[in-house]
Amino acid sequence: MTSRKRLNVAMIGQGFMGRAHSNAFHQVGHFCESSYELNLKVICGRNQPQLKAMAARWGWEEVASDWEAVVGRKDVDVIDICTPNYLHAPIAISAAQAGKIVLCEKPLAMSVEEAERMANAAQNVPTLVWFNYRRVPAIALAKRLVDEGRLGQIYHYRATYLQSWGADPVNPDAWRFKQSEAGSGAMGDLLSHSIDLALMLNGSLDEVSALIHTFTPGREVDDAVLLLARFANGSVGSFEATRYAIGCRNRNYFEIHGANGAIRFDLEDLNHLNVFDAGDTAEVQGSHNVLVTGPGHPYTSRFWPPGHILGYEHTFILTLADFLQSLENNEKFHVNFQDAVNVQRVLHAVEESARTRAWASIAPQLAKR
Ligand SMILES: NC(=O)c1ccc[n+]([C@@H]2O[C@H](COP(=O)([O-])OP(=O)(O)OC[C@H]3O[C@@H](n4cnc5c(N)ncnc54)[C@H](O)[C@@H]3O)[C@@H](O)[C@H]2O)c1
Repeated sequence: MTSRKRLNVAMIGQGFMGRAHSNAFHQVGHFCESSYELNLKVICGRNQPQLKAMAARWGWEEVASDWEAVVGRKDVDVIDICTPNYLHAPIAISAAQAGKIVLCEKPLAMSVEEAERMANAAQNVPTLVWFNYRRVPAIALAKRLVDEGRLGQIYHYRATYLQSWGADPVNPDAWRFKQSEAGSGAMGDLLSHSIDLALMLNGSLDEVSALIHTFTPGREVDDAVLLLARFANGSVGSFEATRYAIGCRNRNYFEIHGANGAIRFDLEDLNHLNVFDAGDTAEVQGSHNVLVTGPGHPYTSRFWPPGHILGYEHTFILTLADFLQSLENNEKFHVNFQDAVNVQRVLHAVEESARTRAWASIAPQLAKR
């Protein structure tokens, strides 16, 4: 076996995403061929006792508390940013300037201006933004069907991202509710995912008409956001993202209707894609649930035999696997920082429309990826 190139990884932030990424760094080499080997070098965070326990459990070699010192280390090749949103830009820009490979959680930034600065700073280094839902096998199958023209001309794109914890937060003082640390609420947290998937599946958006609402008196960020949209391909869309959808824990849903058929996806049923083919003869016409675990389905052969289902964590493993493949092939990975600027441009128009109570156009985006 040829020797693999070792990349030393430093992770900044040790919370929910810290665990999801640590798992992916370990698992990617077990399931996906690569000429790169990831070494979990150092994990950086603020709570030292928790950090040490996390390092021991997940196999990080060292712990650190100063991200600037970590970014400056010569023996670190990859910086993975799992911090609250306001730290994404300073860490990413300084990591890119130090020539590191930069992985960053979503939303990329707090504003378009910040996102553009990050993309500019990182022009010469490989980047990844963790819009992990693109690598749900059922969503990758949806993309394949759309790209093959199986739906025909698209008429409607409908997406909802529904959570419920905003009404009864465990910690009402957490960074997610602070404007200065999160930038926004349901918008950057949830709508950003839906917009990224829409850009991938249905192409650029031209304009939006939006409503942003905060239910909790005194809360600094939005609890819910709703919008209508026009896409460049002539289709129309609606989006809703909320932390107040009582009864829904994490329902990331979309539905696309085209001239020749329709598809529907719900993250609460992650292994299925619901498909309707208008070409079926009338007596057997009806939507059916495809169990997207192979054979022939995207990604699934890397894991278990057909019918053996996958979960949330696989989306992070596959994102990383595709990224390592892009490094090996010297190709651009998607979603990279520049792609994520597109998402930020849509979010900016959403804010603008809600503020002015009028339609807002979206600054030109790059082609569909
Ligand atoms: N891809 C997804 O689906 C997904 C899901 C959840 C969160 N996220 C994103 O991931 C990021 C982190 O979210 P989370 O849920 O893991 O949050 P979290 O609150 O669980 O963890 C944040 C971590 O950042 C650390 N931190 C804060 N300030 C720091 C500093 N100055 N130096 C070093 N570490 C610092 C905290 O100690 C904590 O460990 C956010 O940008 C969020 O939007 C993405």
